[in-house]
Amino acid sequence: MNILQEKIKKLAKEKNAIILAHYYTNKEIQEIADFVGDSLGLSKIACKTNADIILFCGVDFMGETAKILSPNKKVLMANNIASCFMAKYISERDLINYKKLNPDTIIISYVNTYASVKALSDVCVTSTNALKIIKHYADLNKKILYIPDKNLGNYANKTYGYNMELWNGFCPIHNYVSLNQVAKAKKEHPNAKFIVHPECPYEIIKEADFVGSTKQMLDYTIQDNASEFIVGTESGVIYAMEKASPNKKFYPLVSNFRCINMKSITLEDAYDSLKNEKNEVILSEDIIKKAKTSLDRMLELS
Ligand code: 13P
Ligand code: SF4
Repeated sequence: MNILQEKIKKLAKEKNAIILAHYYTNKEIQEIADFVGDSLGLSKIACKTNADIILFCGVDFMGETAKILSPNKKVLMANNIASCFMAKYISERDLINYKKLNPDTIIISYVNTYASVKALSDVCVTSTNALKIIKHYADLNKKILYIPDKNLGNYANKTYGYNMELWNGFCPIHNYVSLNQVAKAKKEHPNAKFIVHPECPYEIIKEADFVGSTKQMLDYTIQDNASEFIVGTESGVIYAMEKASPNKKFYPLVSNFRCINMKSITLEDAYDSLKNEKNEVILSEDIIKKAKTSLDRMLELS
């Protein structure tokens, strides 16, 4: 650990703060975290921590999720610029308008949404539990709108024959990978297995040996016998993969598979935020109460 990392850890101890980091953050951020996880894993930790402060190294909707699940804790974002492109695809106003026209439709919202959107949703899902929870509602023969990720929604529709209506949102980092890039990576690494996140388009998913959330991809690389993997998601997770399987090789599907939002978080940000208790997540009690219902339902069903 470098001097700044040690200072952050010491300060966190003094303030009884827990540091949570997503797998897509920079390596030096993951190194100071008490817990590194995907969005479901981080939500679960936020629920049960005894810390007074949560220092969240991830994008904005994730910090909001931590606050909703742990409303009595002070949740600090490491910086105030790490937002999520996908979450911006649907606003509270969009969903209010949709619900007026479609009052009987079940709204399943990906966790990559803002708290005000979660508050209007019936249930939340993450990429780890989406298929299970969608199945639950599809089996009830309900009309469903899945927001905002058209790629994950399309993957569920195509895989299980569902007919969910999809919002036209996506993650630009996962959406703009091409079949040519997949072919090139497979040619360069003929013995590697190709693993992919469901935020990628279906034509890319069809080429994969395994599809799953960030944590499921990590687990797959640990359990599978292959010794090389082409990784079809944000390359930050490769740090965790290499740590877990030092004898295996990991290649990013494309060299710039980077979420600039996650990567904007620096050690200086984390220190400044924790020291000065800056960038606190503030949500109204009403939004917390309503959004918590959809998150609690997710945790019950997953
Ligand atoms: P995970 O649920 O896999 O953490 O995905 C969150 C995300 O933002 C992926 O781009
Ligand atoms: Fe959002 Fe995409 Fe970054 Fe994930 S990778 S946090 S979906 S912008």
